[in-house]
Amino acid sequence: MGGFRVLESFRGRDVISILDFTRRELEELFEVADEAWKLARARPLRGRILALAFFEPSTRTRMSFESAMKRLGGETLLVAGEEAISVAKGENLADTVRMLDAYSDAIVIRHRFEGAALYAAEIAESPVINAGDGRQHHPTQAMLDLYTITKLFGGVDGLTIGVLGDLRYGRAAASFLLGLTLFKPRMVYLISPPQLRPRRELLDELKSRGLRFQEAELADVLEELDILYVTRIQRERFPDPSEYEKVRGSYRVTLDMLERQAKRELKVLHPLPRVDEIDYRVDGSRFQAYFTQARLGVPLRMALLMGVLGGEA
Ligand code: NCD
Repeated sequence: MGGFRVLESFRGRDVISILDFTRRELEELFEVADEAWKLARARPLRGRILALAFFEPSTRTRMSFESAMKRLGGETLLVAGEEAISVAKGENLADTVRMLDAYSDAIVIRHRFEGAALYAAEIAESPVINAGDGRQHHPTQAMLDLYTITKLFGGVDGLTIGVLGDLRYGRAAASFLLGLTLFKPRMVYLISPPQLRPRRELLDELKSRGLRFQEAELADVLEELDILYVTRIQRERFPDPSEYEKVRGSYRVTLDMLERQAKRELKVLHPLPRVDEIDYRVDGSRFQAYFTQARLGVPLRMALLMGVLGGEA
Protein backbone atom coordinates (compact mmCIF):
# COMPACT_ATOMS: atom_id res chain seq x y z
CA MET A 1 0.00 0.00 0.00
CA GLY A 2 2.69 2.50 -0.92
CA GLY A 3 0.12 4.87 -2.41
CA PHE A 4 1.43 4.00 -5.89
CA ARG A 5 -1.46 4.55 -8.25
CA VAL A 6 -1.71 2.43 -11.36
CA LEU A 7 -2.64 3.70 -14.80
CA GLU A 8 -3.59 7.22 -13.86
CA SER A 9 -5.01 8.02 -17.32
CA PHE A 10 -7.46 5.07 -17.18
CA ARG A 11 -9.24 6.30 -14.07
CA GLY A 12 -13.01 6.59 -14.52
CA ARG A 13 -12.80 6.07 -18.28
CA ASP A 14 -15.34 4.30 -20.43
CA VAL A 15 -13.88 1.52 -22.59
CA ILE A 16 -15.95 1.47 -25.76
CA SER A 17 -13.47 0.97 -28.62
CA ILE A 18 -9.82 -0.06 -28.71
CA LEU A 19 -9.23 3.23 -30.52
CA ASP A 20 -10.15 5.12 -27.32
CA PHE A 21 -6.58 4.34 -26.23
CA THR A 22 -3.11 5.28 -27.41
CA ARG A 23 -0.31 2.85 -28.04
CA ARG A 24 1.51 4.21 -24.99
CA GLU A 25 -1.56 3.62 -22.79
CA LEU A 26 -1.87 0.04 -24.03
CA GLU A 27 1.81 -0.58 -23.35
CA GLU A 28 1.38 0.76 -19.82
CA LEU A 29 -1.63 -1.50 -19.39
CA PHE A 30 0.49 -4.51 -20.46
CA GLU A 31 3.18 -3.56 -17.95
CA VAL A 32 0.61 -3.49 -15.16
CA ALA A 33 -0.84 -6.81 -16.40
CA ASP A 34 2.64 -8.33 -16.00
CA GLU A 35 2.52 -7.27 -12.33
CA ALA A 36 -1.16 -8.03 -11.80
CA TRP A 37 -0.76 -11.07 -9.57
CA LYS A 38 1.67 -9.23 -7.34
CA LEU A 39 -0.53 -6.12 -7.14
CA ALA A 40 -3.55 -8.30 -6.34
CA ARG A 41 -2.06 -9.40 -3.04
CA ALA A 42 -3.00 -6.06 -1.49
CA ARG A 43 -6.63 -6.58 -2.61
CA PRO A 44 -6.67 -3.06 -4.13
CA LEU A 45 -10.37 -3.21 -5.15
CA ARG A 46 -11.85 -4.46 -1.90
CA GLY A 47 -15.21 -2.90 -1.18
CA ARG A 48 -15.78 -2.13 -4.87
CA ILE A 49 -18.55 -3.67 -6.96
CA LEU A 50 -18.45 -4.50 -10.66
CA ALA A 51 -21.75 -5.12 -12.49
CA LEU A 52 -21.63 -7.71 -15.26
CA ALA A 53 -24.52 -7.15 -17.66
CA PHE A 54 -24.38 -9.90 -20.24
CA PHE A 55 -27.32 -9.77 -22.62
CA GLU A 56 -25.56 -12.20 -24.99
CA PRO A 57 -23.88 -15.53 -24.20
CA SER A 58 -20.35 -15.42 -22.86
CA THR A 59 -18.02 -17.78 -21.04
CA ARG A 60 -14.48 -16.42 -21.19
CA THR A 61 -15.15 -12.71 -21.16
CA ARG A 62 -17.65 -12.82 -18.32
CA MET A 63 -15.74 -15.30 -16.19
CA SER A 64 -12.40 -13.61 -16.70
CA PHE A 65 -13.87 -10.25 -15.62
CA GLU A 66 -15.44 -11.94 -12.64
CA SER A 67 -12.27 -13.76 -11.73
CA ALA A 68 -10.18 -10.58 -12.19
CA MET A 69 -12.46 -8.53 -9.94
CA LYS A 70 -12.49 -11.20 -7.23
CA ARG A 71 -8.72 -11.65 -7.36
CA LEU A 72 -8.43 -7.93 -6.66
CA GLY A 73 -10.66 -8.23 -3.62
CA GLY A 74 -13.79 -6.77 -5.27
CA GLU A 75 -17.31 -8.13 -5.69
CA THR A 76 -19.46 -8.72 -8.76
CA LEU A 77 -23.16 -8.44 -9.56
CA LEU A 78 -24.40 -10.46 -12.49
CA VAL A 79 -27.31 -9.77 -14.81
CA ALA A 80 -27.75 -12.53 -17.36
CA GLY A 81 -30.13 -15.19 -18.63
CA GLU A 82 -33.90 -14.73 -18.61
CA GLU A 83 -34.07 -11.25 -17.14
CA ALA A 84 -31.45 -10.17 -19.59
CA ILE A 85 -33.41 -11.35 -22.57
CA SER A 86 -36.55 -9.56 -21.42
CA VAL A 87 -34.71 -6.24 -21.31
CA ALA A 88 -33.43 -6.41 -24.87
CA LYS A 89 -35.48 -3.38 -25.96
CA GLY A 90 -33.78 -0.01 -26.14
CA GLU A 91 -36.08 1.68 -23.67
CA ASN A 92 -35.67 -0.93 -20.99
CA LEU A 93 -31.93 -1.04 -21.45
CA ALA A 94 -31.74 2.56 -20.25
CA ASP A 95 -33.60 1.68 -17.05
CA THR A 96 -31.44 -1.36 -16.44
CA VAL A 97 -28.31 0.72 -16.87
CA ARG A 98 -29.60 3.33 -14.39
CA MET A 99 -30.18 0.58 -11.87
CA LEU A 100 -26.77 -1.01 -12.38
CA ASP A 101 -25.22 2.42 -12.13
CA ALA A 102 -26.81 2.89 -8.73
CA TYR A 103 -25.72 -0.52 -7.44
CA SER A 104 -22.11 -0.72 -8.66
CA ASP A 105 -18.86 1.18 -9.29
CA ALA A 106 -18.41 0.11 -12.93
CA ILE A 107 -20.47 -1.75 -15.52
CA VAL A 108 -19.29 -4.35 -18.03
CA ILE A 109 -21.87 -4.77 -20.77
CA ARG A 110 -22.33 -7.17 -23.68
CA HIS A 111 -25.27 -6.65 -25.98
CA ARG A 112 -26.30 -7.66 -29.49
CA PHE A 113 -27.01 -4.05 -30.52
CA GLU A 114 -24.20 -2.05 -32.07
CA GLY A 115 -23.68 1.06 -30.02
CA ALA A 116 -25.26 -0.44 -26.87
CA ALA A 117 -22.17 0.16 -24.73
CA LEU A 118 -21.80 3.74 -25.91
CA TYR A 119 -25.47 4.32 -25.15
CA ALA A 120 -25.03 2.83 -21.67
CA ALA A 121 -21.99 5.05 -21.12
CA GLU A 122 -24.07 8.13 -21.92
CA ILE A 123 -26.59 7.15 -19.25
CA ALA A 124 -24.32 5.81 -16.53
CA GLU A 125 -22.15 7.96 -14.33
CA SER A 126 -19.90 4.99 -13.53
CA PRO A 127 -17.41 3.81 -16.14
CA VAL A 128 -18.81 1.42 -18.74
CA ILE A 129 -16.68 -1.31 -20.32
CA ASN A 130 -17.82 -2.74 -23.64
CA ALA A 131 -17.61 -6.54 -23.62
CA GLY A 132 -19.00 -6.75 -27.17
CA ASP A 133 -21.71 -4.79 -28.97
CA GLY A 134 -23.16 -6.73 -31.87
CA ARG A 135 -20.66 -7.07 -34.68
CA GLN A 136 -18.96 -3.80 -33.83
CA HIS A 137 -16.40 -3.65 -30.99
CA HIS A 138 -14.80 -5.92 -28.41
CA PRO A 139 -12.01 -3.73 -27.04
CA THR A 140 -10.93 -5.86 -24.08
CA GLN A 141 -10.48 -8.85 -26.37
CA ALA A 142 -8.26 -6.72 -28.61
CA MET A 143 -6.24 -5.60 -25.57
CA LEU A 144 -5.81 -9.21 -24.60
CA ASP A 145 -4.82 -10.23 -28.15
CA LEU A 146 -2.20 -7.48 -28.35
CA TYR A 147 -0.98 -8.35 -24.86
CA THR A 148 -0.59 -12.01 -25.84
CA ILE A 149 1.41 -11.07 -28.92
CA THR A 150 3.59 -8.76 -26.83
CA LYS A 151 4.28 -11.61 -24.40
CA LEU A 152 5.02 -14.11 -27.18
CA PHE A 153 7.08 -11.92 -29.52
CA GLY A 154 8.21 -9.01 -27.33
CA GLY A 155 6.02 -6.58 -29.30
CA VAL A 156 3.79 -6.20 -32.34
CA ASP A 157 5.98 -4.10 -34.62
CA GLY A 158 7.56 -5.84 -37.60
CA LEU A 159 5.39 -8.96 -37.42
CA THR A 160 3.49 -10.53 -40.29
CA ILE A 161 -0.03 -11.35 -39.20
CA GLY A 162 -2.82 -13.26 -40.94
CA VAL A 163 -6.40 -12.74 -39.77
CA LEU A 164 -8.54 -15.64 -40.94
CA GLY A 165 -12.27 -16.16 -40.83
CA ASP A 166 -15.42 -14.13 -40.50
CA LEU A 167 -14.18 -10.58 -40.97
CA ARG A 168 -17.67 -9.36 -41.83
CA TYR A 169 -19.59 -10.12 -38.64
CA GLY A 170 -16.78 -10.82 -36.16
CA ARG A 171 -16.27 -8.05 -33.62
CA ALA A 172 -13.18 -9.69 -32.12
CA ALA A 173 -11.43 -9.67 -35.51
CA ALA A 174 -12.57 -6.09 -36.22
CA SER A 175 -11.30 -4.80 -32.86
CA PHE A 176 -8.04 -6.70 -33.26
CA LEU A 177 -7.50 -5.11 -36.69
CA LEU A 178 -8.29 -1.64 -35.34
CA GLY A 179 -5.88 -2.30 -32.47
CA LEU A 180 -3.15 -3.26 -34.95
CA THR A 181 -3.38 0.22 -36.47
CA LEU A 182 -1.87 1.57 -33.24
CA PHE A 183 1.27 -0.51 -33.90
CA LYS A 184 3.48 -1.15 -36.92
CA PRO A 185 3.17 -4.74 -38.11
CA ARG A 186 5.17 -5.49 -41.28
CA MET A 187 2.06 -6.74 -43.06
CA VAL A 188 -1.46 -7.84 -42.17
CA TYR A 189 -3.22 -10.33 -44.46
CA LEU A 190 -7.01 -10.46 -44.39
CA ILE A 191 -8.09 -13.98 -45.25
CA SER A 192 -11.80 -14.73 -45.54
CA PRO A 193 -14.31 -16.48 -47.77
CA PRO A 194 -15.71 -13.95 -50.29
CA GLN A 195 -19.04 -13.67 -48.43
CA LEU A 196 -17.24 -12.83 -45.19
CA ARG A 197 -14.92 -10.09 -46.41
CA PRO A 198 -14.62 -7.08 -44.08
CA ARG A 199 -17.18 -4.35 -44.45
CA ARG A 200 -16.25 -1.29 -46.46
CA GLU A 201 -16.21 0.98 -43.40
CA LEU A 202 -13.68 -1.23 -41.61
CA LEU A 203 -11.40 -1.39 -44.68
CA ASP A 204 -11.64 2.41 -45.05
CA GLU A 205 -10.76 2.90 -41.40
CA LEU A 206 -7.73 0.57 -41.64
CA LYS A 207 -6.59 2.39 -44.76
CA SER A 208 -7.01 5.86 -43.31
CA ARG A 209 -5.03 4.82 -40.24
CA GLY A 210 -2.15 3.70 -42.44
CA LEU A 211 -2.17 -0.04 -41.64
CA ARG A 212 -0.21 -2.09 -44.19
CA PHE A 213 -2.68 -4.78 -45.20
CA GLN A 214 -3.94 -6.75 -48.14
CA GLU A 215 -6.53 -9.43 -48.81
CA ALA A 216 -5.05 -12.87 -49.51
CA GLU A 217 -5.55 -16.63 -49.65
CA LEU A 218 -4.17 -18.63 -46.72
CA ALA A 219 -2.10 -21.00 -48.89
CA ASP A 220 -0.35 -18.06 -50.56
CA VAL A 221 0.82 -16.38 -47.36
CA LEU A 222 1.00 -19.05 -44.64
CA GLU A 223 4.76 -19.47 -44.92
CA GLU A 224 5.34 -15.75 -44.25
CA LEU A 225 3.25 -15.52 -41.10
CA ASP A 226 4.41 -15.03 -37.52
CA ILE A 227 0.83 -15.06 -36.26
CA LEU A 228 -2.33 -16.64 -37.59
CA TYR A 229 -5.38 -15.18 -35.83
CA VAL A 230 -8.37 -17.47 -36.50
CA THR A 231 -12.03 -16.66 -35.83
CA ARG A 232 -15.22 -18.67 -36.05
CA ILE A 233 -18.09 -17.88 -38.41
CA GLN A 234 -20.55 -15.73 -36.44
CA ARG A 235 -23.58 -17.82 -37.27
CA GLU A 236 -25.92 -15.90 -34.97
CA ARG A 237 -25.32 -12.63 -36.85
CA PHE A 238 -26.30 -13.86 -40.31
CA PRO A 239 -29.49 -12.17 -41.44
CA ASP A 240 -30.26 -15.23 -43.62
CA PRO A 241 -29.54 -18.78 -42.34
CA SER A 242 -29.10 -20.10 -45.89
CA GLU A 243 -26.16 -17.71 -46.30
CA TYR A 244 -24.57 -19.36 -43.27
CA GLU A 245 -25.05 -22.80 -44.81
CA LYS A 246 -23.10 -21.66 -47.87
CA VAL A 247 -19.97 -20.72 -45.92
CA ARG A 248 -20.09 -23.17 -43.06
CA GLY A 249 -16.93 -25.26 -42.83
CA SER A 250 -15.29 -23.25 -45.63
CA TYR A 251 -11.93 -22.94 -43.85
CA ARG A 252 -10.04 -25.11 -41.43
CA VAL A 253 -6.52 -24.94 -40.09
CA THR A 254 -4.92 -28.37 -39.79
CA LEU A 255 -1.67 -29.54 -38.23
CA ASP A 256 -0.52 -30.98 -41.55
CA MET A 257 -0.97 -27.66 -43.22
CA LEU A 258 1.04 -25.88 -40.51
CA GLU A 259 3.82 -28.46 -40.46
CA ARG A 260 4.13 -28.36 -44.22
CA GLN A 261 4.04 -24.63 -44.77
CA ALA A 262 4.37 -22.52 -41.64
CA LYS A 263 7.46 -21.15 -39.90
CA ARG A 264 8.45 -23.14 -36.85
CA GLU A 265 7.76 -20.08 -34.66
CA LEU A 266 4.27 -19.40 -36.02
CA LYS A 267 1.67 -19.01 -33.30
CA VAL A 268 -2.05 -19.57 -33.80
CA LEU A 269 -4.39 -17.31 -31.84
CA HIS A 270 -8.19 -17.53 -31.55
CA PRO A 271 -10.51 -15.50 -29.30
CA LEU A 272 -12.54 -18.70 -28.74
CA PRO A 273 -15.05 -20.37 -28.79
CA ARG A 274 -13.76 -22.57 -31.58
CA VAL A 275 -16.23 -24.55 -33.64
CA ASP A 276 -14.40 -26.51 -36.35
CA GLU A 277 -11.98 -23.98 -37.78
CA ILE A 278 -8.89 -25.32 -35.97
CA ASP A 279 -8.21 -29.04 -35.99
CA TYR A 280 -7.88 -30.44 -32.45
CA ARG A 281 -4.49 -31.86 -33.39
CA VAL A 282 -3.11 -28.31 -33.35
CA ASP A 283 -3.87 -28.12 -29.61
CA GLY A 284 -0.89 -30.17 -28.55
CA SER A 285 1.53 -28.64 -31.05
CA ARG A 286 4.10 -25.83 -30.79
CA PHE A 287 1.79 -23.64 -32.89
CA GLN A 288 -0.98 -23.46 -30.31
CA ALA A 289 -1.22 -20.18 -28.42
CA TYR A 290 -5.00 -19.79 -28.04
CA PHE A 291 -5.15 -21.36 -24.60
CA THR A 292 -2.29 -19.17 -23.43
CA GLN A 293 -4.24 -16.22 -24.84
CA ALA A 294 -7.39 -17.21 -22.92
CA ARG A 295 -5.41 -17.50 -19.69
CA LEU A 296 -3.93 -14.03 -20.10
CA GLY A 297 -7.48 -12.63 -20.05
CA VAL A 298 -7.43 -12.57 -16.26
CA PRO A 299 -4.25 -10.51 -15.61
CA LEU A 300 -5.10 -8.19 -18.51
CA ARG A 301 -8.57 -7.51 -17.10
CA MET A 302 -7.14 -7.15 -13.59
CA ALA A 303 -4.89 -4.38 -14.89
CA LEU A 304 -7.78 -2.73 -16.71
CA LEU A 305 -10.05 -2.82 -13.64
CA MET A 306 -7.31 -1.41 -11.43
CA GLY A 307 -6.87 1.39 -13.93
CA VAL A 308 -10.54 2.22 -14.47
CA LEU A 309 -11.53 1.84 -10.83
CA GLY A 310 -8.42 3.63 -9.64
CA GLY A 311 -7.05 0.85 -7.50
CA GLU A 312 -4.11 1.64 -5.27
CA ALA A 313 -1.45 -0.96 -4.81
C1 NCD B 1 -15.81 -13.49 -29.10
C2 NCD B 1 -17.06 -12.63 -29.04
O1 NCD B 1 -17.94 -12.82 -28.23
O2 NCD B 1 -17.12 -11.71 -29.86
N1 NCD B 1 -15.69 -14.31 -27.98
C3 NCD B 1 -14.97 -13.87 -26.91
O3 NCD B 1 -15.29 -12.88 -26.31
N2 NCD B 1 -13.85 -14.55 -26.59
C4 NCD B 1 -15.63 -14.22 -30.34
C5 NCD B 1 -16.72 -15.15 -30.78
O4 NCD B 1 -17.77 -15.26 -30.16
O5 NCD B 1 -16.51 -15.77 -31.82
